Amino acid sequence: MKGKLYLITGNPGKVKEIKNRLDVLDIELGTLQEDFVEVQADTLEEVVFFGIEHLVREKGIDLPFIKDDSGLFIDSLDGFPGVYSAYVQDTIGNDGILKLMKGMDDRTATFKTVMGLHIPGEGVSLFRGEIRGEITLEKRGFFGFGYDPIFIPEGAEKTFAEMTLEEKNRDSHRIRATMKLVDHLSKE
Ligand code: IMP
Repeated sequence: MKGKLYLITGNPGKVKEIKNRLDVLDIELGTLQEDFVEVQADTLEEVVFFGIEHLVREKGIDLPFIKDDSGLFIDSLDGFPGVYSAYVQDTIGNDGILKLMKGMDDRTATFKTVMGLHIPGEGVSLFRGEIRGEITLEKRGFFGFGYDPIFIPEGAEKTFAEMTLEEKNRDSHRIRATMKLVDHLSKE
């Protein structure tokens, strides 16, 4: 595929991370900030799939675009906040998560991203990326966004928020999904 691909988001942090990897292809990444009610569903796949359906059918968006959704799934909280990650980040935030986990020894968690690619006339393809890691005891670092200050990816000592963009982009849930997307697009 060549030309312009749009990312549906209002999050500049995400744009930087994805753009960095799409640069290897002859694709320009634009953004579309479409206000719409995010469907509440049980899985990231459903959120992405129904979100794309809504954008195409209700909003009439007929361009190649990506809609992604991510979530932090904490083992000792039975996967919470998971699909509710955006709501929880906007309400109780990282301090609230640390409070909920006070005294918990098992701090393992998985960050997941599902990326949906819509190409007009071709339908939707989904790409998944996930990375295991641990929730810190306190917030650390000022880079990145969202849960970055409380998540240390497996094999690292720094939180995502203590890493530069380049360091976070070496490996993350979003990069794992983006690499699958890049591989797919390079064959289109
Ligand atoms: P979204 O629905 O993909 O925008 O993400 C759901 C929630 O998870 C939002 O509050 C984001 O800030 C947060 N989030 C998504 N990706 C990341 C990440 O890479 N690091 C930290 N937080 C993230």
